[in-house]
Amino acid sequence: WAIHAPYVAAINKLKKERNAVILAHNYMTPDIYHGIADFVGDSLQLAIKATEVEADVIVQCGVHFMAETSKILSPEKTVLMPDMEAGCSLAESITAEGVAQMRAQYPGAPVVTYVNTTAEVKAASDICCTSSNAAQIVAAMESDTVIMTPDKYLAQNVAKQVPQKRIVWWDGACIVHERFTPQDLRDFREYNPETRIITHPECPPDVVAEADFSGSTSGILEYVHREKPKQAMLVTECSMASNIADELPEVDFVGPCNMCPFMKKITLEKVLWSLHTMSTPVEVDGAVAGRARVAVERMIDLSR
Ligand code: 13P
Ligand code: SF4
Repeated sequence: WAIHAPYVAAINKLKKERNAVILAHNYMTPDIYHGIADFVGDSLQLAIKATEVEADVIVQCGVHFMAETSKILSPEKTVLMPDMEAGCSLAESITAEGVAQMRAQYPGAPVVTYVNTTAEVKAASDICCTSSNAAQIVAAMESDTVIMTPDKYLAQNVAKQVPQKRIVWWDGACIVHERFTPQDLRDFREYNPETRIITHPECPPDVVAEADFSGSTSGILEYVHREKPKQAMLVTECSMASNIADELPEVDFVGPCNMCPFMKKITLEKVLWSLHTMSTPVEVDGAVAGRARVAVERMIDLSR
């Protein structure tokens, strides 16, 4: 923390001067998460927070689609990305044309699109979802067939929770969560039977089937705070365990985790530079933003 202190102090001072707030995803490193964030949360919580904050500037400590979502919901605010290269394998896996292909293949079926997508893809969809409300959103669709893009594993996990719907999906995956295997979890449990195994729904369904609990990043956080297991294995991005460990020293976090190379592009140094130079503002074409906003706001309304 001593190495981070000058950055934290400089960022917190600049935040006031710029009337800025820092929205940070749960996958940010502890120096960002505990040191400079004004609000932390999962994708849904950050999207809702973007509509509520009164600042002139939002610094998005997360990946590009999250900054775009904030801009779509708050076009009058300046939304800064500390590193424009912080992308997402799911967002890269599909374009608006891909959504059109799915619509042609399943005429009349509504398109439920994960927020981990570009504004163009959201604009081509009927409604968005996040990992915390996907089952609820799909269940609320009137049609028997529902198209889910772009995460095939989230779609397959939702299909188990909402068996009354026929869910068809795009072939996208998260490079962080697709790497876990059910055998990893079984092996771990065999030697550590007391460990609580917790997954994110971007993991393949056979991995989720081995878990004691599966939920969005905030769902995971709430579960660990509530249950306070002696040992927990978080089958997700590595910073989740580091951030909770700082709050709950009595829980022993064990087992493997994977790093998201995109989330890890955001550093204290880049946040300081971003606030100092007001770079880089995220822009979304007005017409695209208008249509994307409808899809995101429909999701927020249905999740309340
Ligand atoms: P959450 O909505 O659960 O925070 O997930 C976002 C994400 O990118 C997970 O990989
Ligand atoms: Fe995208 Fe996966 Fe990284 Fe989340 S963890 S931002 S889904 S690549």
